Amino acid sequence: MKILVTGGLGFIGSHACVELLDSGYEVVIVDNLYNSSIKVLDRIEMITGQRPLFYEIDILNKDALNNVFEENDIDGVIHFAGYKAVGESVSIPLVYYQNNITGSLNLYECMEKHGVNNLIFSSSATVYGNNFKAPFKEEYGYGTTTNPYGTSKMMNEMIIQDLAKANKDLSAVILRYFNPIGAHSSGLIGESPNGIPNNLVPYIAKVATGKLAYLNVFGNDYNTADGTGVRDYIHVVDLAKAHVSAIEYSFKHKGAEVINVGTGVGYSVLDVVSAYEKATGQKIPYVICERRPGDIDSCFADPSKCLELLGFKTEKNLEQMCKDSYNFMEKNPDGIK
Ligand code: WQD
Repeated sequence: MKILVTGGLGFIGSHACVELLDSGYEVVIVDNLYNSSIKVLDRIEMITGQRPLFYEIDILNKDALNNVFEENDIDGVIHFAGYKAVGESVSIPLVYYQNNITGSLNLYECMEKHGVNNLIFSSSATVYGNNFKAPFKEEYGYGTTTNPYGTSKMMNEMIIQDLAKANKDLSAVILRYFNPIGAHSSGLIGESPNGIPNNLVPYIAKVATGKLAYLNVFGNDYNTADGTGVRDYIHVVDLAKAHVSAIEYSFKHKGAEVINVGTGVGYSVLDVVSAYEKATGQKIPYVICERRPGDIDSCFADPSKCLELLGFKTEKNLEQMCKDSYNFMEKNPDGIK
């Protein structure tokens, strides 16, 4: 079976490619290298012993994307490609909607033209907004998204569900990720954000490796046990494995399904700081500062539908996530360049 992975050299995409290859799938990668490096392709080969076919193209280039389908008999698609910086999306919404919506429509049109009816979409818990009390269940529907990034994920979910209503042969699994962190145990692939990380764990990793002096804790007056924000952190390898389970499910079912992918356990910022210190032996100095606009108190999954439909449950704990995050950052202090 040949799977097209858009954004396959990115943080989650590259880990998914490793798990797909290790599970016996053929992989074709499309990536514009906007937020990744061609070196990740070498790292995937080092880990798996296989080198996926790679096309450096932008999903906004519909002709080039169509050519990938002309040249390869694609059985299914996992669609990661998209801009994902929440803050940035607020300042350049047009760029985000062009890339995340028009780019996705190009992909869906190519799939329809070539009769490819298996799609896994990379969505996010951000679509729940701030309207519900955790644990979040899929049937809650959509909250009020607070940024164009989250809105673009919600729009894609709606588009895919409409496509499945019109095309009874389409099988689509929409995976709502919670907070992916960590890295492959080899330390060869992981999260290497450009510049100062926006997200908590990559920021802590830079503090742990001496690249940054201390962590700013964005508020300690939330309605949580210790006042700091609570999130559902999931190991990126567990998340990658969930995509293999989803693609296997998609070949046995029709229609569109929305599925949470999280551990179901919420940890506060300070929980993560102490877990990181314990896992790595590194002190993580921090200061409490103002809340970050748009942040919510508590966000964690009800993972029961994922277990019920995909037979998937996460295996790795927070200590392993922190260890693997630190191992990657130690081996790649300046990211994969
Ligand atoms: C986690 C917690 C912060 C940084 C975002 C996107 C989501 C997904 C994952 C793409 C919060 C606190 C953070 C820091 C801090 N991305 N924090 N100091 O905001 O839950 O989710 O990333 O799919 O869509 O919304 O993740 O890691 O930014 O924040 O105190 O320097 O850590 O307030 O409570 P978030 P995060």
